[in-house]
Amino acid sequence: MARLQILRYPDPRLYTVARPVAQVDERIRVLVDDMLETMYEAEGVGLAATQVDVHERVIVIDTADAPGSPIVLINPELVVKSAEMMLGDEGCLSVPEIYDKVPRHARVRVRAQDRSGEAREFDAEGLLSVAVQHEMDHLLGKVFVDYLSPLKRSRIKTRMLKKTRDEARA
Ligand code: NI
Repeated sequence: MARLQILRYPDPRLYTVARPVAQVDERIRVLVDDMLETMYEAEGVGLAATQVDVHERVIVIDTADAPGSPIVLINPELVVKSAEMMLGDEGCLSVPEIYDKVPRHARVRVRAQDRSGEAREFDAEGLLSVAVQHEMDHLLGKVFVDYLSPLKRSRIKTRMLKKTRDEARA
């Protein structure tokens, strides 16, 4: 397994739309394992392939209190979305140290292939529902800060560029 580099906002590559995975093969399983290692190392609860500059529809999520039973979503679709919305505090490994509220469907039914290519469906609510919607946005080239006001977004952009510069100098 290998740790991958996570793209940081406002890297333009985060705005790439991912293509479907044609076949869940060894190459995809290696990607999944590397994404899991990268997510756990960064102490995140979700990671989309877009964030590691791989533009295919692959997501890993682990919202459990005790990590170790990750959810792997390949070619995910939302088959049901509740009319009821919820506001949760969201963060993103591509936008470190920034948290803000984004409206999301309170409950969703997700259809996706798993690590072995098997098609599965499950219902998600709460944090898991939010994580699925947040990560699926990445696959469409959307970052959660895109939901915030232009003023907030511009402040976040400035802060991220400064952070990246400071780290390069350190
Ligand atoms: Ni994210």
